[in-house]
Amino acid sequence: MLRVVVLVSGGGTNLQAIIDGVQAGTIRNTQIVSVISNNPGAYALERAQKAGIPGFCISPKTFENREAFNKAFLAKLDELQPDLIVLAGFLVVLPREMTEAYSGRIINIHPSLIPSFCGKGFYGLKVHEAALARGVKVTGATVHFVDEGTDTGPIILQKAVYVEPGDTPEVLQRRVMEQAEWVILPKAIDMIANHEL
Ligand code: GAR
Repeated sequence: MLRVVVLVSGGGTNLQAIIDGVQAGTIRNTQIVSVISNNPGAYALERAQKAGIPGFCISPKTFENREAFNKAFLAKLDELQPDLIVLAGFLVVLPREMTEAYSGRIINIHPSLIPSFCGKGFYGLKVHEAALARGVKVTGATVHFVDEGTDTGPIILQKAVYVEPGDTPEVLQRRVMEQAEWVILPKAIDMIANHEL
């Protein structure tokens, strides 16, 4: 069984897609051992609780400085002994100690076709606002390994999604989630768990 820890910050629809995939058996040989959020109000923590998965909040606001937060975060991860860490809408930049300690074992979902609309400052709705401002006709999502850069690690899976006339950032975000993110993130985990990568 692949031991997966999912890191979240918000609504957790990608977390839900992973939970559903494990329950339905489309993600094989995988156990979600824990969900960690940096944000105490994240609805994702409720999703974890409903699914019977232990959830934790480690908020930077409750620590004296960033270093203390990073240390506590890494200690919690080490305690959980994950084979794979999944960033599912996790909006905290990972400290170098963590990307080094878990090199090749952290993946992220990003809501565009990398290398478009990625890197510093491109997260959540901002990505879709930028795609619409540029006038692209096709966007999508990417699952990639996480290295010390921002959205720079090796790409695992991508899926394209059409932009439609009249799209707002919110409408486009929802389409990219439904057609791409909730498909390729579970698929990437299944591939890793079953040595198909
Ligand atoms: C998702 O669209 C995810 O791709 C994005 O945040 C959203 C989280 O939604 N992540 C990033 O922008 C990372 N750079 P969710 O909490 O409903 O899964």
